[in-house]
Amino acid sequence: MASIQQIKSMKGKQKIVMLTAYDFPTARLMDDIVDIILVGDSLGMVVLGYENTTKVTMQDMARATESVARGAKNALIVGDMPVGTYKNEKDALKNANLLLKAGAHAVKIENKPEIAEFLVKNDIEVMGHIGLTPQTITNFKVQGKNEEDAKKLLEEAEAMDKAKCFSLVLECIPMQLAEKITKSISMPTIGIGAGIHCDGQVLVTHDILGLFDAFKPKFVKRYANLSDIMKKSFEQYAKEVREAKFPSDEYSFH
Ligand code: KIV
Repeated sequence: MASIQQIKSMKGKQKIVMLTAYDFPTARLMDDIVDIILVGDSLGMVVLGYENTTKVTMQDMARATESVARGAKNALIVGDMPVGTYKNEKDALKNANLLLKAGAHAVKIENKPEIAEFLVKNDIEVMGHIGLTPQTITNFKVQGKNEEDAKKLLEEAEAMDKAKCFSLVLECIPMQLAEKITKSISMPTIGIGAGIHCDGQVLVTHDILGLFDAFKPKFVKRYANLSDIMKKSFEQYAKEVREAKFPSDEYSFH
């Protein structure tokens, strides 16, 4: 398994590869390929069909983390803590431990350096997340574009670094700011819509496979169009059943 120490030592030397997974078969397929599997609360949108991530529960995340852990034996598994589950130290500790019990090796939280510090002091590895933080943000745009906002983001990154997070997701910020943050902090940065200078990259798997087409942010590159392949398979199956062509002899018992 990729250890926290290995991930930290990749900073500035080797790019860190992270993708999301929410189930056993996907985790199994990517396990030998990626360094980190994030069981993201993006599950709410790409799997459960909610409009955003705010309805995702601990139960949803624990179940998904358990499935991923059954499929992944090499990659580091990070479980995302849903909104409202780390509003104070007591809740954060209880819920982080639920994700660890489900099979995560670390948890991810959006901002909140004081909670990150508390979890780390309690031997829980934490990945931070700043920039466009979907659990709380109201303007879904590139963050940190003016000087004041950029300074605030740099301060937030430094606070998460001081809290001893082992890595930091930078979401949807200008690449020059991501470069500055990456050079200013000791932990690796993992970008999503944050340019090439981050220490690693993450995308939502359903986005890169073309399985989620409600919208496509500029930073998403589609590496496949599985929606088309799936739809064609469903259509072919339906046609063959309706025309009494399936199951043919080959698929029948005698
Ligand atoms: O939930 C998620 O998938 C995430 C990534 C987009 C970083 O937080």
